[in-house]
Amino acid sequence: MANITSLKSWQALTQLSKQPLDLQECFQKNGHRFKDFSLEACQLHLDYSKQWVTKDILKALCKLAEETQLKEKVQDLFSGATLNVSEQRPALHTALRNVSNTPVKLNGHDIMPEISAALNKMVDFYEAVTTEQHKGYDGQAITDVINVGIGGSHLGPALACQALQDYKNSQLNIHFVSNLDQAHLEQLLKALNPATTLVILSSKSFATQETLYHGEKIRHWFQNDKAIKQNFVAITENKEKALEWGILESAIFPIWDWVGGRFSLWSSIGLPILMQLGTQHFFQLLAGAHAMDQHFQETPCGENMPTIKALISLWYSQFHGCQSQAILPYETSLQAFPQYCQQLEMESNGKSVDMKGNPVNYPTASIIWGGVETNGQHAFHQLLHQGRHLIPVDFILSRTCNHYPQEHAIQYANGLAQSRVLMTGRNEETIKKELLENGIPEAQAGQLAKHKAMPGNRPSSTLVLHQLDPYSLGALVALYEHKVFAQAAILGINAFDQWGVELGKHVASEILEDLTKTTLKHHYDASTQGLLRLYQRKD
Ligand code: F6P
Repeated sequence: MANITSLKSWQALTQLSKQPLDLQECFQKNGHRFKDFSLEACQLHLDYSKQWVTKDILKALCKLAEETQLKEKVQDLFSGATLNVSEQRPALHTALRNVSNTPVKLNGHDIMPEISAALNKMVDFYEAVTTEQHKGYDGQAITDVINVGIGGSHLGPALACQALQDYKNSQLNIHFVSNLDQAHLEQLLKALNPATTLVILSSKSFATQETLYHGEKIRHWFQNDKAIKQNFVAITENKEKALEWGILESAIFPIWDWVGGRFSLWSSIGLPILMQLGTQHFFQLLAGAHAMDQHFQETPCGENMPTIKALISLWYSQFHGCQSQAILPYETSLQAFPQYCQQLEMESNGKSVDMKGNPVNYPTASIIWGGVETNGQHAFHQLLHQGRHLIPVDFILSRTCNHYPQEHAIQYANGLAQSRVLMTGRNEETIKKELLENGIPEAQAGQLAKHKAMPGNRPSSTLVLHQLDPYSLGALVALYEHKVFAQAAILGINAFDQWGVELGKHVASEILEDLTKTTLKHHYDASTQGLLRLYQRKD
């Protein structure tokens, strides 16, 4: 395909981006704007009426999706085409939540039986542990589970377990360790009894430094070789390494090479989620994601929630020079969601070549950031309202709550207020008039108004979950997975490899070797060498 920037739709969008758009004017001209620019799917409501879009812009964006064959690429995703071209693999995370169990063929054979077998193994293990058929090494029942993993082997499970505390269906306490924060690990181990603790070593490669380091530390904590057989399980594609480590074959939960780490919470990597939620709620999580899969495959562009979110993101990153996008949940239970989306979008789309390996001359991803609200209102919202950056915001709310309705109402009101004020701003004249009415002298009022003015016309979407429950969380995560994929498909890049993270790991192991050496084994630049020597100083 010719460079996408030469496409007719790209040219049309470039022209449209030069036309100023005033959001408040759009609402004045169209009394149905909220309805016209809202979508409902899988118990989610997406209000994108406060985005810089018109019907013409949406039409041109959908034309871009058409000219870049998005629809065909979506079918490729679900049918197991080799989309991960650099590793010659498909990306079939959608098959993991294919609760309809329709066949999914890979190299001519249906993979659903092995996916179901893996899921059944997880369920059987959950039941064995919670009915005390599977006990710890000295015969006591399991009370605590430690999930040891990082990146996609941590972020998804940790997000779901934190978001769905209200849907616990076991007495098990689930804990997470990821980076080498030994203080956290030691504090955790102090509070636990090895005899009643199950350890999940979660690593697709079974070669991740942090995870294996933690594994050894925790193994040492057990002080009992029998423990490995009873109190340790592994989730990995690398069965050989797990067996070498001492994990029983029956205690290895499989993951396949066609499941990317950041798309893996639906696989055996989701074992800690199942251990917390129980079978029914875990299947509801899968069902929500499956519903979003069907919506993504079957819905025309203008009504397609992941596609519209992807196109709006591209509208800002490609045609308005936005480098970052913010994700701001007004649900404390979703506080891990912005970080989850960081890996999902930045590790998937942070690339510089297209599917053929040719350099691209446009940004391929946004810098995704965010934080739990209303904390963010007291930290970074100043820049959003009066800074010079244009940063589109995704506000995430839930319409109903299980507990604390009063606090929930305050959160919801704040979320709506921030989205509204980003749009309306407050002009200098209005502020000056208000100051004068409050008796501030003319000169002072004029000067202060300059500092208090807020430009407004700043775009945002508001995504409202009917309720933060397993089904809606599954739909929410799948929504963002498909948004990221659709962006990559339109830009013609591979969303499913991550070669950029490999070299750093290799160099870290070289530096670790040299950290205490007078004669360095490896060659370094002067800065790295100087910092190494700094570490070695005895003063
Ligand atoms: O280094 C990045 C990465 O490979 C992620 O893609 C992955 O989710 C994480 O590290 C953990 O990898 P593993 O599951 O193999 O331990």
